[in-house]
Amino acid sequence: MAYALSPNLTVFLAISVVVILIFLTILLVIVMPKFKFIQRLIDKLNLVTRENLSGLRVVRAYNTQIVQANKTKAVAEETMHRNVFVQRIFNSIWPVLGLIMQLTTAMLYYVAVSQGIISVGSAFEPGDISAIVQYASQALMNFMFITMILTMIPRAAVSARRIMDVIDADIIIEDPKNPLPVENVVGRIEFDNVTFKYPDADEAVLSNISLVANPGEVTAFIGSTGSGKSTLINLIPRFYDPTEGRVLLDGVDIREFRQDDYLKYIGYVPQKGNLFKGTIASNIAFGQETIDMDIVKKSAEIAQATNFIEELDKAYDAPITQGGTNVSGGQRQRLSIARALAKEPKIYIFDDSFSALDYQTDLKLRTALRQHVDATIILVAQRINSIKNADKIVVLDKGLIAGIGTHEELMKTSQVYKEIAESQLSQEELLR
Ligand SMILES: Nc1ncnc2c1ncn2[C@@H]1O[C@H](COP(=O)(O)OP(=O)(O)O)[C@@H](O)[C@H]1O
Ligand SMILES: [Mg+2]
Repeated sequence: MAYALSPNLTVFLAISVVVILIFLTILLVIVMPKFKFIQRLIDKLNLVTRENLSGLRVVRAYNTQIVQANKTKAVAEETMHRNVFVQRIFNSIWPVLGLIMQLTTAMLYYVAVSQGIISVGSAFEPGDISAIVQYASQALMNFMFITMILTMIPRAAVSARRIMDVIDADIIIEDPKNPLPVENVVGRIEFDNVTFKYPDADEAVLSNISLVANPGEVTAFIGSTGSGKSTLINLIPRFYDPTEGRVLLDGVDIREFRQDDYLKYIGYVPQKGNLFKGTIASNIAFGQETIDMDIVKKSAEIAQATNFIEELDKAYDAPITQGGTNVSGGQRQRLSIARALAKEPKIYIFDDSFSALDYQTDLKLRTALRQHVDATIILVAQRINSIKNADKIVVLDKGLIAGIGTHEELMKTSQVYKEIAESQLSQEELLR
C-alpha cells in the first residue's frame, strides 16, 4: 500500500527491514551457542551443589569446606558472567530496534520534504505521508515482536532438546510381543554361555558364563572387587539383558516372559539397602497390596531384625525417614532382607547383603534362611565364612569363571579360591 502511494519512500522501509533482519541474524548466531554453554554450566552447578549436599559429612570430616565452596563459586561465577553477557545482548534489542524505527520515521519525513514529494500544490497530500509513517511503524512493530519470539526460541529449543533426549531414550529392556506365561515355577536359574558388555563400554565385563543355580540350594559367588559379581546377578532381574547368550528360568529364556509376571518370583536384595519413607512394616511389606503382619513379623524374624525392631517405641509402626537414614547400615540391610522374604519369592538374590552384619548375625541369618526358606538362593559375598557351606561356589575372576564347586573341591582345584580363602581364614579354620 505504501508502494502504491510512493515507490520512493518504500525503498526506505525496505532498507530498515533488511537492517533489522541482519541485526537479528547476527544476534542469533552469537547467542545460540551461548545458550547451550549456559545450559551446560547450569548442569555443572547443579552437580557440584548436589555433590556437596549429599557428601556434606565427608566434606566436613576432610575439612574441605573451603575447597568445595571455591569449586562451587567458580562455576557459579562463570554461569553468572555468561548470563550477564547474554542478557546484555538481549537488552540491547529493544533500544536498537526502537532507534531503527524512529530513524526510519524521521528519514521518511525528511526525504518526503526534501525531494519535494510533499510541497505546496503537489498531488501528494500531507495525510498520505502520515499514512506511510503509520504503515511503517506497524510493520516495524511486528518485526520487533517477531524478534522477541525469535530470541525466546533458542532458549526453549535448548531446553526442549534436553527433555526430548530423555523422552526419546530407547527402552533397553522390552517385553516380548507374545509372552509366555510364568507357571509352576520351580526356580532353576541357568546362565547359558552369557557374555555381557555395558552399553557404551568397549570390553566385556562377563565372558562365556555358563552355570546352574538349583532350587533348594545356595549358589554363592566370590571374587575380587570388579570381577563382575554384581553385573552377573543383575542379569537375573533383567536390569540388563546379556549381550550374548541367555539367562533361563526352568529352561526358558527369561526374555520370553513379561517382566511383571517374571519379577514376582524374584526377591532382590541390593548391596546397599534402600528404604522408603514410611514405617518399618510398610518397608517390609513393600510392593504388597496389603500389609500382612504375620508375614511381616516372620520375615523380620528370619532376617534377624526382630531384636532391634521390638526395642523401638512403636516397633513395626516406627517411622522410617526418607532413604532410611534413621536406622543403621546393618539394620537397613536386615530390613531389605526382610522385604525380600515377605515377598516369598522362588529365587533370592543377595548382592553382598550380609556385609554390614557382624559374623554372629550373619551366621544366624544364614541358618534361619536354610531352615525356613525353600527356594533358589543366589548370593554374593566377600567373606569366605559366609559361603563356605554353600552347595555350589562360583569363583569369578575378571569376568571369567575361575572355578565351580564346593569349598572342599575348590580348595584343591582353584588357585584363585585358595588364595582368597587363605588370606581370610586361619589355618585351623581351613582344616575344619
Ligand atoms: N553401570 C556400569 N557401567 C559401566 N561399567 C560398569 C557398570 N557397573 C560396573 N561396571 C564395571 O563392570 C565391572 C564389574 O563390576 P561389578 O559387577 O560391580 O563387580 P563386583 O560386583 O564383582 O565388584 C567393573 O570393572 C566395573 O567398572
Ligand atoms: Mg558388587
